[in-house]
Amino acid sequence: MTKIEQVRRLLKKSQSPVFFTGAGMSKESGIPTFRDAIDGLWSDNRPEDLATPSAFHADPAKVRAFYEYRRATIRDCEPNAGHLAIAALENSGFHVSVVTQNVDGFHEAAGSSKVFALHGNIMEDRCNEGCPGSHAMGRHSGICPVCKKDALRPNVVWFGESLDDDLLLRSTVAIMTCDILFIIGTSGLVYPAAGLADLAMQRGFPVIEINPEATPFTEQVDIFLPGAAAKFLPKICGA
Ligand code: APR
Repeated sequence: MTKIEQVRRLLKKSQSPVFFTGAGMSKESGIPTFRDAIDGLWSDNRPEDLATPSAFHADPAKVRAFYEYRRATIRDCEPNAGHLAIAALENSGFHVSVVTQNVDGFHEAAGSSKVFALHGNIMEDRCNEGCPGSHAMGRHSGICPVCKKDALRPNVVWFGESLDDDLLLRSTVAIMTCDILFIIGTSGLVYPAAGLADLAMQRGFPVIEINPEATPFTEQVDIFLPGAAAKFLPKICGA
């Protein structure tokens, strides 16, 4: 039996798969990673000049311009065959959860309904002062519709910021109660998100990894599929 057949068989026996995804998931969509984006037009900047609370405080216009640039790139891209395969699995009756470190919103765009976007959604804004109800798609101005301050910022988690407690809790529950876990396209280096997959390793259900490169998870997973997410997922999730 090939590794793909083994994974298909394990998936078929499951009811509640979780897909834990990172930047590699969106590679075939053509989305540059945060670091790739900085390497281009913004190469005079360090990550801390563009993606920290202090950078926003010092120069909100510059930070917003950087995020508008990233949004424009993402608008030119679309979910790939991997995102679509995960969404189709849900439509065929599985209780699928997606826990993602990606901010592109492509799992939702592909049709997945239970997505925990640990690092936020880059296409949305929210008030930096924490106003409830300030979330909105796209920015028409920097003014928060609730407090009216010039405080709208992209709805992403910046360096030095904590993940949303509730989201982290719900992601942990999804991973602790799943019956098969897929770790896809993540280097496993960024905590606390990577810690969720570490937790799963101790549970004893099958853990599958898809990544062209080995990662800190690879030695511990049950099956490692070396290669692209968009190549393997349709073969695994397809009818
Ligand atoms: N399919 C699957 N995996 C791939 C593919 C592909 N086509 N191409 C690359 N990869 C793998 C790489 O081998 C690497 O292990 O995707 C991983 C991407 O790693 P990172 O760039 O570190 O991305 P990620 O793990 O998501 O980073 C976590 O760090 O930059 C911050 O907040 C940002 O959410 C991000 C977090």
